[in-house]
Amino acid sequence: MIVVAIDGPAGAGKSTIAKALAAKLGVRYLDTGAMYRAVTFAAMTSGIELSNQDLVAELTRKSKMLLTDETVMINGLDATTAIRSSEVTGAVSTVAANSQVRTELRERQRQWIADHNGGVVEGRDIGSVVFPDATLKVYLTASPIVRAKRRVAQSGGNVDEIAASIASRDLQDSSRSDSPLTQTDDAITIDTSDRSIDEVVAQLVEMTDQRSSKTA
Ligand code: DC
Repeated sequence: MIVVAIDGPAGAGKSTIAKALAAKLGVRYLDTGAMYRAVTFAAMTSGIELSNQDLVAELTRKSKMLLTDETVMINGLDATTAIRSSEVTGAVSTVAANSQVRTELRERQRQWIADHNGGVVEGRDIGSVVFPDATLKVYLTASPIVRAKRRVAQSGGNVDEIAASIASRDLQDSSRSDSPLTQTDDAITIDTSDRSIDEVVAQLVEMTDQRSSKTA
């Protein structure tokens, strides 16, 4: 079973690269950030205070989530667009710092991969905590200005404001006590600032093939 873990800060190119890599390898793609976003959306629409850790965790455990390459459903609602709203983006780090939520979502991520016989998984703690024995661990990064410009190209907004909001989310994601964003020693670090998607994907396909033939 092939598992490729792709971690890194917001705007480093994780989703684009992870999706393209999964297609080339013929495996599924799992966006774990979408799971944290879906829980945030569900809590906000149910009027639950995000600071109430027990209630948010209970909601997480009770929620039914369905993730495909294109859509995110939570409790029967299509949340694909709503989870990318600025309200959810601004609030998701609080939910991602909730240890009980992390415990539940980590289990669901492992189960998803078992059910789909492997995949390319993107997030913040995939190589460090969720799949420490992944076939290949990749840490993607890019300069702050490149990351902000990519987000603006995707969803609009002002580069300076987006850069500030990315910096604040990165700080929260890397300084929380439970499974913060970290670079593991065995991860390959790739700076995507000046590289094309195709080039990075081709490099990762080659590395995954090498690793999986060694462990086969
Ligand atoms: O990748 P993203 O921007 O959609 O992630 C949304 C939030 O969820 C982000 O603040 C980091 C957090 N996250 C996390 O803590 N652990 C993961 N495995 C994936 C995302």
